[in-house]
Amino acid sequence: MSKADAFFKMKRRGEKIVVVTAYDAPTARLEIEAGVDIILVGDSVGVNILGYAHEREVTLSDMAHHIRAVRRGAPQVYIIGDLPYATYDTVEQAIESSRILADAGADCVKFEGAQPELVRALTRAGFDVCGHLGLESQHQEVKRRQGKTAEAAAKLYDDALALDAAGQKFLVLELVPHELAARVTRAIAAPTIGIGAGASTDGQVLVVNDLAGITTREFKHNRRYGAIGTALRDALAAYARDVRAGAFPAEEHGFRMAEDEGAAFEKMRP
Ligand code: KIV
Ligand code: NA
Repeated sequence: MSKADAFFKMKRRGEKIVVVTAYDAPTARLEIEAGVDIILVGDSVGVNILGYAHEREVTLSDMAHHIRAVRRGAPQVYIIGDLPYATYDTVEQAIESSRILADAGADCVKFEGAQPELVRALTRAGFDVCGHLGLESQHQEVKRRQGKTAEAAAKLYDDALALDAAGQKFLVLELVPHELAARVTRAIAAPTIGIGAGASTDGQVLVVNDLAGITTREFKHNRRYGAIGTALRDALAAYARDVRAGAFPAEEHGFRMAEDEGAAFEKMRP
């Protein structure tokens, strides 16, 4: 039995699946304490953590590094890891890349686009695979909504069915119209995980930096549940103020020598 079976069961029961990204151990630990079902180590690590300009700059070794950190913070959680841009151009390369992510601790690998034959090959090689349709950041220069025309919607619908027939364990739907996401969700066996795709998908995913308020940009698909960025900046400014005023550290943040040792030291180095 694959670990992913539990999520098929949740879909059949109509229980929503809570997915969120994480890129480091302490955040992963907090997500587990908060009751998150699945952690996605997305290639969004590039823009959100590594200071890259685009997802395309993310490497396999970046992904493995961050998956290992998340795995250490959340030893039991089901982790989906993104295959970065240009690491699944052939079946052989995709298998090799997936092995690197799995060795780092991923339970499932995700790639963007309608390549059912790749899902089939990776599944046969023993990997859980998550599809990803709609906005494909790796393949689109400009991030915009997808599937708005009847023709585009029909193509995405057919692609979703093909990925499903090939054995995908999940399907991420990013920035697609509600109606389309709902139709796909009803039509396929695998749980759909939506982002900017309406409330009908089997689960939802958000980037932790966006939902926690670390990201400064506003996104229509996001809701800010925290103000971590502001809280962190305030804490840093208070620390800087105290250091400059000599108010930190206080007596209790350090320690002193025993009286006799101190006196002996003064004699040794007068
Ligand atoms: O990289 C990522 O965080 C993603 C989500 C936006 C689905 O792929
Ligand atoms: Na991604």
